[in-house]
Amino acid sequence: MKPLLQLQKRSMAIAGLIMLGYLIFHMLTNLSFFTEASFSAFYQWYNAGLVRWLVIALMVIAILIHVKAAFHIRAVNAKARTTDYAKHDKFKIPAAFVTASIIFLLAFIIIHIIQTLLFDSTNVYNELSQLFKSELMVLFYLAGLFVLTMHLQHSLANVLQTLGKTSVTCHSLAWAGTLLLTGGFALLPLYIYFVMP
Ligand code: HEM
Repeated sequence: MKPLLQLQKRSMAIAGLIMLGYLIFHMLTNLSFFTEASFSAFYQWYNAGLVRWLVIALMVIAILIHVKAAFHIRAVNAKARTTDYAKHDKFKIPAAFVTASIIFLLAFIIIHIIQTLLFDSTNVYNELSQLFKSELMVLFYLAGLFVLTMHLQHSLANVLQTLGKTSVTCHSLAWAGTLLLTGGFALLPLYIYFVMP
């Protein structure tokens, strides 16, 4: 493999892992919403100093590296295979659909960061409670989480294949981990919209 391509693949994987680490942390801190005092105490600390801005900067850099590397790898692959396979062993999702879902995921993340930046940072609990009173916002977040699930599942399957782990057990564990993560996120909008008074 060409050294530049190898470097791009490595940086894409490292940026992906950093984002995955952040997502696990983010989902767990979101779950503290169910105990209002600890959620508010966490966000008061998180928003008081530089931590929040460092995390946003790290995420923006990781997203840029990940997307840039993906573009490069896609371009190299397209050049290497000008004719599509005659037959695919699995159902093939159309390329335009994959591109549209990635654009939607990126738009979701950008809109989400802007929304949270406009929050009253001294009362994030109340801001989220208001946000998810809106049907449209619940649907938007659930759609974002659905696309994120598909993206993580597809990426994890690729990573496992690269590591030579192709067993059903490995793939089932990857599915379970992904669903735990995105399901944990989905609990909040669903709880606020359907259960919270
Ligand atoms: C229902 C799901 C989600 C909820 C309720 C939620 C909630 C929040 C909250 C409360 C903040 C911080 C506000 C503050 O510090 O004042 C935040 C920030 C952020 N969220 Fe989410 N989030 C969700 C899903 C996601 C997803 C799926 C991603 C990425 C794919 C994401 C990425 C980010 C990023 C990058 C930030 C800015 C960094 C930070 O402040 O931690 N969030 N989100």
